[in-house]
Amino acid sequence: MANNEDLFKKIISHAKEYGFVFQSSEIYDGLSAVYDYGQYGAELKNNIKNYWWKAMVQHHENIVGLDAAIFMHPTTWKASGHVDAFSDPMIDNKDSKKRYRADVLVEDFMAKIEAKINKEVVKAAKRFGDTFDKGQFLDTNPRVVKNKEKIEAIKNRLYPAMDNNDFDGIKQLIIDLEIACPVSGSRNWTDVRQFNLMFSTQIGSTAEGANQIYLRPETAQGIFVNYLNVQKTGRMKLPFGIAQIGKAFRNEIVARQFIFRMREFEQMEMQFFVKPGEELKWYEHWKQERLNWHLSLGIPAEKYRFHDHEKLAHYANAAADIEFDFPIGFKELEGIHSRTDFDLGAHQKHSGKKLQFFDPELNESYVPYVVETSIGLDRTFLAVFSHAYTEEVLDDGSERIVMNIPPVLSPIKAAVFPLIKKGGLPEKAREIFDDLKLDWMCQYDEKDAIGRRYRRQDAIGTPYCITVDHQTLEDNTVTIRERDSMKQDRISIEEISGIIAGRIKENR
Ligand code: GAP
Repeated sequence: MANNEDLFKKIISHAKEYGFVFQSSEIYDGLSAVYDYGQYGAELKNNIKNYWWKAMVQHHENIVGLDAAIFMHPTTWKASGHVDAFSDPMIDNKDSKKRYRADVLVEDFMAKIEAKINKEVVKAAKRFGDTFDKGQFLDTNPRVVKNKEKIEAIKNRLYPAMDNNDFDGIKQLIIDLEIACPVSGSRNWTDVRQFNLMFSTQIGSTAEGANQIYLRPETAQGIFVNYLNVQKTGRMKLPFGIAQIGKAFRNEIVARQFIFRMREFEQMEMQFFVKPGEELKWYEHWKQERLNWHLSLGIPAEKYRFHDHEKLAHYANAAADIEFDFPIGFKELEGIHSRTDFDLGAHQKHSGKKLQFFDPELNESYVPYVVETSIGLDRTFLAVFSHAYTEEVLDDGSERIVMNIPPVLSPIKAAVFPLIKKGGLPEKAREIFDDLKLDWMCQYDEKDAIGRRYRRQDAIGTPYCITVDHQTLEDNTVTIRERDSMKQDRISIEEISGIIAGRIKENR
């Protein structure tokens, strides 16, 4: 069994080999933390978007869609707090010239101590066998206790320093812990500085008199500034939501986890506008609703967990992440945030325009509160893709790699093969393909032995392969092979579409 790092590497190379994800500008040696989606990746991504859009917009009468521009008036980002506070503390190593997030250097250091503790646990579990009591061991083993105290002491310095923007304190912690640059091995550090994560550019044809604008770091602000336009033109009543899918840009300092942390990525966000005082009820509602959406894909519940934020951003009165068990460990996949009236209030103040809702029941106007659900499209892709990747040894000893992608998301729904390339079989197979392709993303393939064609489809996650043979010409039946079980059945041509449709409906 491969360890997780090996597995992650295999998943990345599978994504490339089969046309899902390529490094951006690869012929120029790539651009760090930017990726392109290939022929199957683009399909999978579109299917995830559609699945989310359907669940959020089509299935909710009181949620409508929006497609706001990436460029926004620069004051937007002043009001939202991104100009002043959307930054990470960074530190450079003077010898390697490498830049790091200062807090991540310390967190990696703590993770190493944690790994030592875990090693002790594994060793002891082996030694004591069935009588091993993990809780007791963690509380009493002197080496473990000492390491736990070490971690606690580091946390007690790091978190207050982060909260108070105490950069000297963070640097001192790095020095005291004797953290060395992983590249140069030296402890020759610069001071810690704030680094704003927004990309900026100039709008206008000449640099002179041009205005500095930003590439949006989240899609949400496009929703906030359009809230009243949508409410009025759509005659929306509270509670109602606005959903949007689109690109976001962050100049991430630490970006070495494939499509998990990118500098250009996509978000699927929904802002739900509610009456003040009702936000926590809706927050709980959306936490559950969003988890149910993930589970509807058929990925086991143990791959997900909630992480409730103890320390809240100044504008939030509740926040949680849905974390997914990626090959790199449990990490944030989606955030659900109760953002109070912070954003609308700030835009009201900075624009001088009223952003209130007139409540006919109360006969009064107020700024609504907002509960937001914010999920990364690329992270959802990675979650689905990494969970789907399966190496199997078959009964005959041969091996296959199969992508158990939920059928509703599979890039190709069915592949049609003539058993051999003569005797009228290709013509019949094409006829079936031409008919099926009107409803489903399908592929026609007549190259190589049938077994190899099956393997190619397994590797991209196609749920069904349809084979046309001599009997087809006699009685209009084909064999249909199911991806996961590899079971083959003989069915009539008319049944194919219904079978595909039935399988796709399972994910709802
Ligand atoms: N409007 C709220 C917001 O943007 P966030 O937690 O910063 O909240 C929401 O981002 C989601 O966007 C995350 O849960 C994650 O899935 C995705 N995301 C954030 N930064 C990302 C990055 N650099 N690369 C890929 N996905 C990212």
